[in-house]
Amino acid sequence: MHQSQEINEVRDLIRSQTNYRPTVGLILGSGLGTLADEIENPYRIPYSDIPHFAKSEAAGHANELVIGELQGKTIVAMKGRFHYYEGFSLDEVTFPVRVMKALGVESLILTNACGAVNTAFHPGDLMLITDHLNLVGTNPLIGPNNDELGTRFPDLSQVYHPGLRQLALQVAEEQNLTLQQGVYAWWSGPAYETPAEIRMIRTLGADAVGMSTVPEAIVAAHGRMKVLGISCLTNMACGILDQPLNHEEVLEVAGKVRTTFVQLVKGVLEKME
Ligand code: HPA
Repeated sequence: MHQSQEINEVRDLIRSQTNYRPTVGLILGSGLGTLADEIENPYRIPYSDIPHFAKSEAAGHANELVIGELQGKTIVAMKGRFHYYEGFSLDEVTFPVRVMKALGVESLILTNACGAVNTAFHPGDLMLITDHLNLVGTNPLIGPNNDELGTRFPDLSQVYHPGLRQLALQVAEEQNLTLQQGVYAWWSGPAYETPAEIRMIRTLGADAVGMSTVPEAIVAAHGRMKVLGISCLTNMACGILDQPLNHEEVLEVAGKVRTTFVQLVKGVLEKME
């Protein structure tokens, strides 16, 4: 469990470097980092300059916090996130969420690239996360609870905030773009799933599968933050089509959807309270 002292040390360091006081957090998934380039008057901090931050090496990710203004909101964006499959502990994976909360962030937009399990979806679709399945068999809150950060047994009945979901649907409609909705299943990776695992995951009630997001969402819920989850469906999950999966394809499709994705997130930011 995160130590308040470490979180506050990073908060104070960031506040000593910039006068920005972000209220919205944004975690950018594989191939989606360019959204951070839209931030106006950005203040950038490489993760390597931030104490207690892990160092990410996944292809398609930069490694910096970008703080600034976007659509009239002051935001802090993670360009590149930490994954469990990289060997980081879930404490390391979710530490930035604690820092965001300490900085004053109340709403967190989590994004990712993932595979479509629901056969009615298409590569290149965006999906609003309505709920999640934790299939990894561990939990970022395991360990002694830090009562300053949240309660021992947090409720997860509404992790993905109904108001923010409604807003995203409204923005998508106004922008005339397709926004699927569904349940995101967290798979540890780094190997993609097998066809049998995808059949299992579909039977269990998931519409999409990916290797991130859920740990951050659980920690955000623990900290009583409002979460909005947006997935970019980069491929049909393993076994649906008669073709192998590869990371290059994931990045390529994420790159193609980028414009729509950026437009949706900007629209949501503009209309957020
Ligand atoms: N499975 C898991 N993670 C992913 C996928 C997938 O098919 N595509 C992108 N991230």
